[in-house]
Amino acid sequence: MQKKYYITTPIYYPSDKLHIGHSYCSVAADTMARYKKLRGYDVYFLTGTDEHGQKIQKKAAEAGVTPQQYVDNIVAGIKSLWQLMDVKYDKFIRTTDDYHVRSVQKIFKQLYDQGDIYKSEYEGWYCTPCESFWTESQLKDGCCPDCGREVSKTKEESYFFRLSKYQDRLIEHIQNNPEFLQPVSRQNEMLNNFLKAGLDDLCVSRTSVSWGIPVTFDEKHTVYVWIDALSNYITALGYGSEEDALYQKYWPADLHLVGKEIVRFHAIIWPAILMALGLPLPKQVFGHGWLVIGGEKMSKSRGNVVDPVFLCNRYGVDAIRYYLMREMPFGSDGNFTNEALLARINSDLANDLGNLLSRTVAMIEKYFDGVIPQMGEVTELDRELIDLARTVYADYTENMDNLRFSVALSDVWRLVSRCNKYIDQNEPWVLAKEEGGRIRLGSVLYNLAECLRIISVLISPVMTKSCRVIAEALGAAPELLTFESAGCYGLLQSGGRVKKQEALFPRIDIKKELAELEGLGGAAEAEKKAEKTQKNPEKTPKNSEKNEQKIEEITIDDFARVQLRVGKVLKCEKVEGSDKLLKSTVLCDRERTIVSGIAKWYTPQEMVGRQVVVVTNLRPVKLRGVLSEGMILCAEDETGALALVSPEKVINAGAEVR
Ligand code: MSP
Repeated sequence: MQKKYYITTPIYYPSDKLHIGHSYCSVAADTMARYKKLRGYDVYFLTGTDEHGQKIQKKAAEAGVTPQQYVDNIVAGIKSLWQLMDVKYDKFIRTTDDYHVRSVQKIFKQLYDQGDIYKSEYEGWYCTPCESFWTESQLKDGCCPDCGREVSKTKEESYFFRLSKYQDRLIEHIQNNPEFLQPVSRQNEMLNNFLKAGLDDLCVSRTSVSWGIPVTFDEKHTVYVWIDALSNYITALGYGSEEDALYQKYWPADLHLVGKEIVRFHAIIWPAILMALGLPLPKQVFGHGWLVIGGEKMSKSRGNVVDPVFLCNRYGVDAIRYYLMREMPFGSDGNFTNEALLARINSDLANDLGNLLSRTVAMIEKYFDGVIPQMGEVTELDRELIDLARTVYADYTENMDNLRFSVALSDVWRLVSRCNKYIDQNEPWVLAKEEGGRIRLGSVLYNLAECLRIISVLISPVMTKSCRVIAEALGAAPELLTFESAGCYGLLQSGGRVKKQEALFPRIDIKKELAELEGLGGAAEAEKKAEKTQKNPEKTPKNSEKNEQKIEEITIDDFARVQLRVGKVLKCEKVEGSDKLLKSTVLCDRERTIVSGIAKWYTPQEMVGRQVVVVTNLRPVKLRGVLSEGMILCAEDETGALALVSPEKVINAGAEVR
């Protein structure tokens, strides 16, 4: 029997235009859905929008429209973004859909009738931007522990869900089912930060918010956020309605893919609701990392969002999907930079993959009139290549099964690179001229075409268009493009015809492109801003502004990823054309050129000879044409005054700061 696979993204707030960070989650879910389909699963992929709440009500009022008008407009944009990015969902749920509203009302009533929801009085702190209530002890420095913004004291009649009742069962479930919450670091986070500290009952209704689902038996109350939002995963399948065949078929979910900041809701609140309803729990919640910019989460309020539409239109959807899935390990955060994106496009896509295809097809055309030749006797070099194709297939499968997209793609590129090397080692152009070289030449070209067939299958969950271009270039029939057939070497038929295609990925003149991006908005603008905040302390937000930003807790392992060293400033000068930037040559682990926005506070003469603290593993960026290879740490107070951070006594340059 065909195995089912039910995968979900979170439902997105339609409060703003979505940015590339949001696309990250959906592209990952789409990649996984396509992979599972390729593996023969009966896949159901759900996404949608989370349309209720105070934030949207406020935005709509600001825009002078009704909340429904406001969200309708944004939802249309979200749907067209998914179409552009080839995110092919089976269902798009909107929490304003009537079937959802009805089911949520039923769920709420059932939980109330059975005593899992009770009426009480809420007294606490409310963060409007996060739509979250906090207890006194949860606040950080009197502010919202999630975003660091101000909270307001609230007291009102509310319904509560008995979350505390499920605490022990939740701990047990997470501990006994390591697969339930991934990656493993998120288990520790949930257990230590929330579950073991003790769960409070959860406020699940509001009287002060009207844009939401009314509580049927007490109409002045509106269902508040999480019961409404989380239930989408079952209401979308018809749970609580007459037509629940999809629910019967697909629930429990195989994978809830969520960003790390909402793991708590999916790994604690959602399973507790399901336990209360007596329903099976999802098999896995995976909390992925964030796509950050200059080390900070993208958000409109920070003005650092990167527009996915801009990127897809400029570089093609496949390049963007590839970059998103390749650039960073799935559970970790990753920095978006134009440089890294362009480097990937040029090296992995245009040079490695694009060239491999165009060279192979061109040589088959040139030497065999476009007809795929036969594979002859297998030589040592062929054996290596064939063995690698098999190993890559197995490694890729294991990595994709475990959502290690980046590693899986690097597996495929091992084969791509090996093929390019195989061309150089076999020198087909020499074989073509050699007497008796034709059989060997045929064999070499056959192997290349066959590897490309396998590659086209393996990249297909990520690169939805390029895989088809490759398959068409090889004239590979659909039955040769199944996952199983990619695991069998030698299936490509000799005698078939290749067909020349347009270059898969045109090479980009990176220098020119970066300069052009500088002059544009969109992605470029965002990156420029990130650079400025990272490198130009004069432009960093004042402390009062910083309080409005999210203060995120990190683990000791996160901290250990930042390499800090003591450096000695050997040389220093002003950066030409800038009155803010200094360029220092700093000896730390090695000599590094570092550009810092400190000219207002330090002269070049004052800098020379000083010991400073340097972040040495920051990705280099160009500032005013100078490649800066790290960052000198400074402290800044609320007046904007700035002071260099230095060791308390002289210590050898290169000493680690921990
Ligand atoms: N509406 C809630 C989810 C309710 S699910 C029952 C929500 N919406 S959201 O629009 O703010 O975020 C949707 C998803 O996008 C989250 O998983 C979030 O982590 C993800 N991302 C938003 N910005 C992101 C990055 N910069 N990088 C990666 N993912 C990011 O939360």
